[in-house]
Amino acid sequence: MSNLKSHFLSLALLLLASCLLLPCLATTPRKLALVQPQPLVLKYHNGPLLKGNLTVNLIWYGKFTPIQRSIIVDFIHSLSSPAPTSQPSVSSWWQTTGAYTGGPCTITLGKQFLDQTYSLGKFLTPSQLLVLSSKLPHRNAINVVLTSADVAPDRFCMSTCGAHGFGLAGKHKKIKFVYAWVGNPEKQCPGQCSWPFHQPIYGPQTPPLVAPNEDVGVDGMIMNLATVLAGAVTNPFDTGYFQGPVDAGLEAVSSCTGIYGSGSYPGYPGKVLVDSTTGASFNAYGTRDRKYLLPAMWDPKTSACKTLV
Ligand SMILES: *[C@@H]1O[C@H](CO)[C@@H](O)[C@H](O)[C@H]1NC(C)=O
Repeated sequence: MSNLKSHFLSLALLLLASCLLLPCLATTPRKLALVQPQPLVLKYHNGPLLKGNLTVNLIWYGKFTPIQRSIIVDFIHSLSSPAPTSQPSVSSWWQTTGAYTGGPCTITLGKQFLDQTYSLGKFLTPSQLLVLSSKLPHRNAINVVLTSADVAPDRFCMSTCGAHGFGLAGKHKKIKFVYAWVGNPEKQCPGQCSWPFHQPIYGPQTPPLVAPNEDVGVDGMIMNLATVLAGAVTNPFDTGYFQGPVDAGLEAVSSCTGIYGSGSYPGYPGKVLVDSTTGASFNAYGTRDRKYLLPAMWDPKTSACKTLV
């Protein structure tokens, strides 16, 4: 199962490293060259990607308010929204997945399933997440399990903010289906999984950004959902695009950890847009005038992390 472990660890390392680096930058700026990252290349492992028309089904596990659900539902609707939105848009962000081999991938929202009674308890093993993801049809779909702030899926907040993977279905267990999960980190680890909307646990304590939908947990979920969805379509079966070990590889978005706008550096998310009324930071418009903050995505055309602003 590919996961956000690398996202999480590299963010921690990035922020940790910045503690050591920043003091010397002021006096010896030329040393910056020493920390220039290598050109980033995600290797293509020749397997299938998810392309064409794809459905995202949502399994809500635990308690979410209608407002929280609408923030996430509107985000899914925004990914391939045919309606024109202000630029930069969520759909222009998603279009970069179409630059990976095989053409574009169009997302529509499919079915939703609500489990508000915690039918499997508040601690979830990987196989329980798989069971939950199977509550809805998985043909040509990514089934996403969204867990509320009081649920602790395996390794959530210890090494991961969310994950994607695949299971096997059918009589002969030959049909692969793709699933993902993302947890609401608000109560358990906002500094890790909702940064930059919350103080980081490591590194320079820059003031947190104001979350665009006024929900530190759910706005964090959007960033992590964006990360796992882009990872799922570009590396659905661990044979697509990634760099590094198969179980902890850097993928489309997890390879761009901590980058949200131009000029970012460890501990600083980069220059993003600010809503003059609310002070909220964002970099993408969605449907119904929604605003979201989305992480950078590796662009195969330039071999670099691409930011919207
Ligand atoms: C996706 O769906 C649209 C609208 O239903 C259709 O026009 C298009 O041909 C489909 N694309 C693929 C690749 O199946």
